[in-house]
Amino acid sequence: MITTYEAAPGIDVLTTNFAVPGLGLVPINAFVLHGQEPVLVDTGTVVQSEDFMTALRSVIDPSDLRWIWLSHTDFDHIGSLHQLLAENPRLTVITTFLGAGIMGLTAPLPMDRVHLVNPGQTMTLPDRTLLAVTPPVFDNPVTTGFYDDTSNVLFSADCFGALLADVPQRAEELSEETLREGQMFWVMADSPWLCKVDGGVFAKDLDAMRRLSPDHVLSSHLPAASGASLDRMLASLEAARAGTPFVGPDQAALEQMMASMGAAGSE
Ligand SMILES: [Fe+2]
Ligand SMILES: [Fe+2]
Repeated sequence: MITTYEAAPGIDVLTTNFAVPGLGLVPINAFVLHGQEPVLVDTGTVVQSEDFMTALRSVIDPSDLRWIWLSHTDFDHIGSLHQLLAENPRLTVITTFLGAGIMGLTAPLPMDRVHLVNPGQTMTLPDRTLLAVTPPVFDNPVTTGFYDDTSNVLFSADCFGALLADVPQRAEELSEETLREGQMFWVMADSPWLCKVDGGVFAKDLDAMRRLSPDHVLSSHLPAASGASLDRMLASLEAARAGTPFVGPDQAALEQMMASMGAAGSE
């Protein structure tokens, strides 16, 4: 089930949750920036593509979209990409050279419908300028978030995601401890390389995010957050750098889980 809500004036969120067995829920978000040239940020999961299109139609006519900002090419971001391109010949996909290349291994993008933007470069639309940024943590080298100067919103791709027991609509509804622990778990699972990063180098990355001073932070995997939460969220990343990368259950643990689920199912 995909639901929608307004994260900030002129910005809708399309959201669903992905259950990680035995561990919790990960929100999965896409965003619509309404404006003179509407932008869809990511296109949902592959498994929920039809639901995604229904939810999208409830907030905008897909034929009105002008751009898809593809933060990266993971399966939770490309679900309705090709359906949207087929339905709307005016749509162009903003991605990187690597993004277009990786899509070529599964469902090639027509290169005349691709616009390449690298971190540090900007996309100038009639009513806004989007500054492409590399968030401090990511799970795919394609990853490109952006800062929108009109709404003063930072779109952070997978960065600032959290594993949660319950998913509220606003990150501010989470306790400080729940937010920190949920974000630390997510980072240690999604970006296990973080523990190898030099503290000084990472601090500069965190400062770069802080300097953007956004009013809102919209992550693909966290409820909409206010800019006032940014310092706390950056602190979660720094704490995760000193943490231990996640190691999933092994075969013995999986068999135990399946046996206990079978026992529970037969009660
Ligand atoms: Fe990802
Ligand atoms: Fe993701």
